Amino acid sequence: MWCSRTVLRRLQRIAVTPLNITGGLTSNMQREMSTLPRVYVTRQIPPEGLKILRESGQVQFQLWDSDDIPVPRQELLEKVKGVDGLLCVLTEKIDAELLEAAGPNLKVLSTMSVGFDHLSLEELKKRGIRVGYTPDVLTDAVAELTVALLLTTSRRLIEATHEAKTGGWGTWRTLWLCGYELANSTVGILGLGRIGVAIAERLAPFKVKKFIYTDVAPRPELASIINAEYVSLDELAKQSDFLTVCCALTPETKEICNKDLFSKMKNTSIFINTSRYILSQDKLLTMNENSLRTVIISCLSLILPHIASASYSTRNAMSALAANNLLLGLRGEPMIKELKL
Ligand code: DGY
Repeated sequence: MWCSRTVLRRLQRIAVTPLNITGGLTSNMQREMSTLPRVYVTRQIPPEGLKILRESGQVQFQLWDSDDIPVPRQELLEKVKGVDGLLCVLTEKIDAELLEAAGPNLKVLSTMSVGFDHLSLEELKKRGIRVGYTPDVLTDAVAELTVALLLTTSRRLIEATHEAKTGGWGTWRTLWLCGYELANSTVGILGLGRIGVAIAERLAPFKVKKFIYTDVAPRPELASIINAEYVSLDELAKQSDFLTVCCALTPETKEICNKDLFSKMKNTSIFINTSRYILSQDKLLTMNENSLRTVIISCLSLILPHIASASYSTRNAMSALAANNLLLGLRGEPMIKELKL
């Protein structure tokens, strides 16, 4: 292939055009299609979802045919006019302005995400619009990434590769680049749900001594799977050698990890966050107390893009689930995963 990946991506960026899935159809077929519910898809979603929509024969859909650039707001406001269904990703703000632009035909919104802070639920509810989302299918991918972050941080892999690349790798030294082991450690989980359990299940074989967790209330059924003890948030901070945060974003959890919480943690603790907006970033980054050294270093050296669910199988599963939710919703049937508004 003569065209490099970079060149291809550049070309793709230049040639961003909405794709109408009607090509190659006879005029009869096109006439029939024009009576089908209209759907707008705000991103070039992974192939499994597109295949489901295309092969359903149930909808006619238009697509913002790029994965690199989100659909510009103005374009989106134009494209949603009169649609019956909308399949979006988490970069699109679905608010009153957008729902007004879409108009009264819009009956179903399906987001290819488990998070829904980009959706104005009030506005959707007011208009009787049903909402599908994609929990569960990303549990394994997020748990795997959490474990990857935890081991990378605790064994200082980023610093070690940096030393190797920049000439810092000299003679063997007794305490150089030493880190902390999971063996005999206490692992804390802030927010025990499917993902918290999946993380603990993966960490248990590393000979963790104890799992502790906190949540709005004890969750005995889930806790019993991983033999975890319920503690207060304060105790979680004090006891954890590794603190993993995997809670949903709610008014109660927003910025729950703040200076106060960090000041209670051991100065050797490793803090791993895969949740949204729970970290009070400004405060964290301006702190320089010695006791928070590890926290700060770990956070700074391992800030990742939004990739917790980024495996091919998971993103395809999310895409397929979002497409199926949309089709079921448009048929007036229960969705596989529907938000209760
Ligand atoms: C989600 O689905 O909400 C994640 O944050 C991205 O996969």
